[in-house]
Amino acid sequence: MTSPRTRPWPVDLEGLGYGGDYNPEQWPVQTQLEDVELMQQAGVNIVSVGIFSWAMLEPREGEYDFDWLDAVLDRLHAAGIRVALATATASPPPWLTRYHPEILPELADGTVLGQGGRQAYSVSSPVFRDYALRMTRTMAERYADHPALALWHVDNELGCHVPHDFSQDAAVAFRRWLEARYGTVEALNAAWGTAFWSQRYDTFDEVLPPRTAPTYANPTQQLDFARYSSDELLTHYRALRDVLREVTPQVPTTTNLMASTGTKWMDYFSWADDLDVVANDHYTRAHDPAAHIELAFSADLTRGIAGGDPWILMEHSTSAVNWQPRNRTKAPGEMLRHSLSHVARGADSVMFFQWRQSAAGAEKFHSAMLPHAGTDTDVWRNTLTLGQALKALAPVRGSRVQADVAILFDYPAWWGTELDSHPSQDVTYVDQVTAWYRQLWHRGVTADIVSPREDLSSYRLVIVPTLYLVTDDGAARVAAAAAAGATVLVTYFSGIVDEHDRVRLGGYPGAFRELLGVRTEEFYALQAGERLTLDDGATADLWSEKTHLVGAEAMSTYTDGLLAGWPAVTRHAVGTGHAWYVGTRLDEVGASRLADTLLLESGVQPVVDAVPEGVEVVRRRGGEVGGGADASFLFVLNHTPEEAVVTARGVDLLTGTAADGEVRVAPHGVAVVQES
Ligand code: GLA
Repeated sequence: MTSPRTRPWPVDLEGLGYGGDYNPEQWPVQTQLEDVELMQQAGVNIVSVGIFSWAMLEPREGEYDFDWLDAVLDRLHAAGIRVALATATASPPPWLTRYHPEILPELADGTVLGQGGRQAYSVSSPVFRDYALRMTRTMAERYADHPALALWHVDNELGCHVPHDFSQDAAVAFRRWLEARYGTVEALNAAWGTAFWSQRYDTFDEVLPPRTAPTYANPTQQLDFARYSSDELLTHYRALRDVLREVTPQVPTTTNLMASTGTKWMDYFSWADDLDVVANDHYTRAHDPAAHIELAFSADLTRGIAGGDPWILMEHSTSAVNWQPRNRTKAPGEMLRHSLSHVARGADSVMFFQWRQSAAGAEKFHSAMLPHAGTDTDVWRNTLTLGQALKALAPVRGSRVQADVAILFDYPAWWGTELDSHPSQDVTYVDQVTAWYRQLWHRGVTADIVSPREDLSSYRLVIVPTLYLVTDDGAARVAAAAAAGATVLVTYFSGIVDEHDRVRLGGYPGAFRELLGVRTEEFYALQAGERLTLDDGATADLWSEKTHLVGAEAMSTYTDGLLAGWPAVTRHAVGTGHAWYVGTRLDEVGASRLADTLLLESGVQPVVDAVPEGVEVVRRRGGEVGGGADASFLFVLNHTPEEAVVTARGVDLLTGTAADGEVRVAPHGVAVVQES
């Protein structure tokens, strides 16, 4: 289990949160009145307001129009609906970029990103920061005592469209960040290896963001720029948050993250301590036939970021989105199942983008809780059904998910793995991580997705997929887990470099060599389509290594190619545990067999015996509202077209039906059994 930071969902709602982004400024007052009535019908108890309202609230510099927002908040309050109020700073109004074009962000090739979409600001611009702080203070002071105010929502999806800014302001801020990190330019030169290619810097003033260059930019410069960029977005959050804390110390603050397999550039593990509650936005991908597994990964990652605490699902979609090449409408039952999968994995609130589907603007074809076609629709009926379900699940609030398996996940390792000029461009980080996640998902085994900065001592199985970059501390935590009795799996191209992207000399996998009892002398990256066979009948592709055994035993060896006879998979006894190394990408047969072996060796069990294929089973325990510390909730989400039968004893909170030894879940249906 990850270490609790005791950061429960801080809003004084009775049960789980339910609602979405609410953008009333797009509608006449008559429609806004109807909104509140329909929200009450649906059981909505919290909405996010004002995210993109700056231009409506401050139509001209220094001239404010708050009347409409006052009325909205009063109306919501009268209806008993709480508000996550935004700082309204997510998109600067046109007058601001007109008078201060210097706040616009720049791409690596010098392209300046213009006004007309959203998020057209450089996060490092002191001018923009001043305006954003002023708007934040104005909002905070105006609504400090408003009884609807439950939570502050800072900006929106920080870094979503502009994770990296290469502008002049960014160059200045990057240099400041580097000076704080290295102290002297000599230390920077040593860390970046600037003796190579005549890159030595004489002063920090010579250093630039890694703008488009004739060939590969210095890899450590790229890595540090990624770190700086994530830190700079967090710095912006902190600056706004500090104003909110000063004016309204009693109100919790957050911002919506985008933790998923698709968001690479924000190191959310390092953001978590600054959020009073972790909030996440998640959207499934139309082209992914296993989108529900990617969703589960995102939810488990969000829980990992939250240190195991309950978190808020701040946005997802009731049906299709508008920003994918071909946007998929959700099938019957899918919206409820997806929502409850987030809840099963720790969400104490389910919210959407957005309440009412827009009639105009870039997102008019994005689904909402209330669609263009009105209330006589599948989408609206789904909105009502989910509202009822969440009400019935009130006892779940505050309960926690427990896992015996940790999968290590690290943003700097992701950035490092995918730097240019590597042995193979085909080694992509998330694919390695999710391959092992899927093995567990299909077996009904819950995993925590945790940072190498976490203590791993409570896990029985620790999976370390392609952790190219690892600090000494991170490697030591993995080794300590094995020494204390865990089974550890490390996969190829791990432990290669330190935090400065400097190779750990003496043979690969550098930082894990001793733990694994192996020494690789050379990589043999495979060509597209090239496949090797192993002596246990599995095959492998993508990658192979010439690995010597230094204490480990070979569990399988290559039977063909240049490495015939050399180990592919090894196992090393360490303390009371074992450390396995997989020096290649195993096919499904090999990976599946290895997953079974690791679970058996570590004694890790699925959530219930015999989880049917395609059925998701997760347990939350404890809670603030229901049965207290002993309460236990079994979520069963049936993603298949067949009825699912799962062992359970208790009462299904959604139907009130007793489960006397088993629960039967309809095709594509859900059950949440409060276990007795
Ligand atoms: C993000 C944003 C929302 C909206 C949705 C669309 O989550 O925060 O404003 O654009 O995407 O999916």
